[in-house]
Amino acid sequence: MNEIENVISLRAVGKTFISGETPIHILEDIDFDIQSGQSIAVTGKSGSGKSTLLNIVGTLDRPTTGSVYFQGQDTSTLTDRELSQFRNTNIGFIFQSHLLLDDFNALENVCIPALIKGMRAQQARRRAVELLVRVGLEDRLSHSPLKLSGGERQRIAICRALMNNPPIIIADEPTGSLDEESSQQVADILFELVEEEHKAMLLVTHDRQTAQRCASMYLLQNRSLQRLK
Ligand SMILES: Nc1ncnc2c1ncn2[C@@H]1O[C@H](COP(=O)(O)OP(=O)(O)OP(=O)(O)O)[C@@H](O)[C@H]1O
Ligand SMILES: [Mg+2]
Repeated sequence: MNEIENVISLRAVGKTFISGETPIHILEDIDFDIQSGQSIAVTGKSGSGKSTLLNIVGTLDRPTTGSVYFQGQDTSTLTDRELSQFRNTNIGFIFQSHLLLDDFNALENVCIPALIKGMRAQQARRRAVELLVRVGLEDRLSHSPLKLSGGERQRIAICRALMNNPPIIIADEPTGSLDEESSQQVADILFELVEEEHKAMLLVTHDRQTAQRCASMYLLQNRSLQRLK
């Protein structure tokens, strides 16, 4: 394993959920590397385990078997508290639902990860404004997420994910709840920013065209990842 280039490595990862008495095997013996700056799409049928895989890669969930390494470090050695700090610094998440805080405006929502990390407010504000301008929302800084369109909210979520400059972005159906036009616009912005900021990205999408824009593509099927591209 090349520990310097790999942002995240999965080794022999399996995941089993216990539902009542019955174990449900979702992932089995998965070996997978995401390298610095690399974009990877994961597709697969509903229920195949894509979100389960993303949550394990993003350390939101722990595997039943096997290990997840971040830049060579075994993340299973971290406590839950250490993991949440680790995630705030190292992983940018974008979900289908934007998960912005309605009581805070656009600028504040983008600043939050940096403030949690201890960045000075003025410096956080500068970086957040820079990102929001970059996604074309310079006129929406003080808007509540409640007063923004779905596409605008996802653009804010992209800024928030990039705020702490993490080496990797993990996106689970980031355009899944948008109409075709804003879906296209949000995907364009996401790919542009990920490239400009030299991020690795793991993207789950049902949309084959969006998946094709990634350097590599995998199909999750029968508990395993099959490389398509
Ligand atoms: N916490 C849990 N407990 C029990 N079963 C779970 C749990 N989380 C997910 N599952 C099951 O694992 C399977 C995979 O779920 P997952 O959400 O990863 O699928 P997905 O590929 O992301 O689907 P979709 O495309 O619909 O989002 C499903 O059958 C689901 O019911
Ligand atoms: Mg899912």
